[in-house]
Amino acid sequence: MSHHSHAVLIALITVLGLAACAQNSVAIPSQPFGRTPRGEKVTLYTLTNKNGMSVSIMDYGATIVKIVVPDRNGKLDDVALGFDHFAPYLTQTAYFGATIGRYANRIARGKFEINRTVYQVPVNNGPNSLHGGLRGFDKRIWKVEPVESDNPAIRFSRFSPNGEEGYPGNLFVSVTFVLTDDNRLQISYRATTDKPTFINLTNHTYFNLAGAGNGSILDHIVTLHASAFTPVDADLIPTGEIKDVAGTPWDFRTPTPIGLHLKETGGTPVGYDHNFVLTKGFFSNFDLAAEVEDPKSGRVLKVYTDQPGVQFYTGNFLDGTLTGKGGKVYRQYGGFCLETQHFPDSPNHDNFPSTVLAPGDVFKSTTIYAFGVK
Ligand code: GLA
Repeated sequence: MSHHSHAVLIALITVLGLAACAQNSVAIPSQPFGRTPRGEKVTLYTLTNKNGMSVSIMDYGATIVKIVVPDRNGKLDDVALGFDHFAPYLTQTAYFGATIGRYANRIARGKFEINRTVYQVPVNNGPNSLHGGLRGFDKRIWKVEPVESDNPAIRFSRFSPNGEEGYPGNLFVSVTFVLTDDNRLQISYRATTDKPTFINLTNHTYFNLAGAGNGSILDHIVTLHASAFTPVDADLIPTGEIKDVAGTPWDFRTPTPIGLHLKETGGTPVGYDHNFVLTKGFFSNFDLAAEVEDPKSGRVLKVYTDQPGVQFYTGNFLDGTLTGKGGKVYRQYGGFCLETQHFPDSPNHDNFPSTVLAPGDVFKSTTIYAFGVK
């Protein structure tokens, strides 16, 4: 192709991309990213703000593929673990960047009860159900909708029929991503049902503030605004106890390097994979849940949420078998997740905040990942 026709083609693709989002106050460029084995087209959308920060999200799994943010010297790096191409997203089991539903984290034995009816959802993680089952929201193509916003924004929505992955209720669900000019990525969820059901939605981005694939996150300094956590059994199901973090390796109430007490957490594989009970996070309050700092790059991430918990996960299951962006290998502790959500296995624990969604009610939740430097 000549240089000229190439340029014309690019211009055409851009115009088509913009036309698709014509109702947006801010145009969202898009590019083809791949195709699923079912033949569905996968598209990658990129939100860019005035500082050159960008967030790329694909419609498969409403998955965050890239988060490009400046360090203290203004150098841009992609801090989200993932892949340059679509294909590896089909086989990885790490849930990189994905929107997780209907139920984030685990449900013991895949069993729960609503109004005396027992439901069995697929068991896909030892004896338990993890992250929505065999084909959760992370493995579905979402519809793209325009968003009225002064900031770059995009909404993904889908209809999850009654009985999908064993869950009751016809569910309409959407997730909206907004990127502001103060480097905040805001993620808002909304869901409605026509039968009582359980819902727990989160985003599963793995961050490495030094850049994806640039070593371990054990030297990142974390503060969690949580004075309790929910201890788990050997299969990572909460025992039901809400335990004070004081005097335990789970005490991140003051800034603490991730690696300082990590070995003392036990577990197989060893590391943090626990739900923290946010200090004032019960619905009405929108609180600072977590702060993370990478001393080398100076990048800082603050997480705000209205959810009652955050799953702090240190990439314990990463084992160096996934080769990611730029050919870099993702080793154990190569990324951390702060999955804002309800507590794992809430359907089976009456003392945890309820995850029931009833007909007529609207599930709404917002989390903000705010980036800065120090
Ligand atoms: C969550 C879980 C972890 C693990 C990862 C995906 O964070 O809590 O145990 O399953 O997802 O590997």
